[in-house]
Amino acid sequence: MINRRKFLRHSVLSTGAILLAQQLNAKSKLEVKLPLVISTWAPNVKANKAAWEILSKSGRAIDAIEKGVMVTEADPEDTSVGYGGLPDRDGRVTLDACIMDELGGCGSVMCIENIIHPVSVARLVMEKTPHVVLVGEGAYAFALQQGFKKENLLTPNSEKIWKEWLKSSKYNPMETMKHMKEKRAPGSIDNHDTIGMLAMDVNGNLSGACSTSGMAFKMKGRVGDSPIIGAGLFVDNEVGAATATGVGEEVIRICGSHTGVEEMRYGKSPREACQIAVERMYKLRKNNLNDMQIGFIAVNKSGEMGAFALREGFNYCYRIGEGVDVVKDAEFLLKN
Ligand code: GLY
Repeated sequence: MINRRKFLRHSVLSTGAILLAQQLNAKSKLEVKLPLVISTWAPNVKANKAAWEILSKSGRAIDAIEKGVMVTEADPEDTSVGYGGLPDRDGRVTLDACIMDELGGCGSVMCIENIIHPVSVARLVMEKTPHVVLVGEGAYAFALQQGFKKENLLTPNSEKIWKEWLKSSKYNPMETMKHMKEKRAPGSIDNHDTIGMLAMDVNGNLSGACSTSGMAFKMKGRVGDSPIIGAGLFVDNEVGAATATGVGEEVIRICGSHTGVEEMRYGKSPREACQIAVERMYKLRKNNLNDMQIGFIAVNKSGEMGAFALREGFNYCYRIGEGVDVVKDAEFLLKN
């Protein structure tokens, strides 16, 4: 049992630590020109641009986030998100997405099929149901009920890649992708380039979303980190937001995005917070991370942004202030 005196001392120390962190945070406040939007992977400049159309007109971050992510979901060239996403081992395209707003609202859909914009369904789960997560057929039925159309998401390109994979049917998606050289985002050494997007609007409010078709040729029903609140995405409007890309199983194990936000709460910069999440994962799993990429991006309440990846090659893109696109390589733990 905890000794009462020790408990009190611990409480006082904790409170002191929080105050110190808050003071440090206040000192490091940046003069940031809002709004801002930041996404995983360079090709998502196009998603940032769509988000910017709302942010630059003083719109809400949550509206900007949804519009931005929808661009990537509708892009048939992107084989890791939405339409054109690579299917599971049975040839079914199953999508995962989640969204969080500045009010503590969150919504998620997992393993949804035949709906091109899971991020929008996730938003409706958040806004129109008493729940946070809908899965599979339930998510699909809800989407139809909300007016979404049934669509075939398997493009000829994705079908061709899947049929190629069927020849060996080796259940090692990351190994398969290395051989097939079907890698959209430079630096995505496995088959992931999930979009995670975070935005802060002119009122200083934060929102975020994450959307993916998940690991190619996954087992039926497999869900990664992207639709799991706290793993693929976490937003706390008082502190900051973080989102992840890469092998979801590893991100889930450490509640990656929540870990990043909690580190910012205690005074770490967004880049430091992302690095701590990656290092925690590495410490836990260093013998199991071969050929995998995992990256985090984060933004704090001061509008400071940062990123960190397990390996060399992860990049991210943002727009801030006057609306110029910036693409940056993230710092990393392991050189390729
Ligand atoms: N990060 C996406 C996934 O693992 O499904």
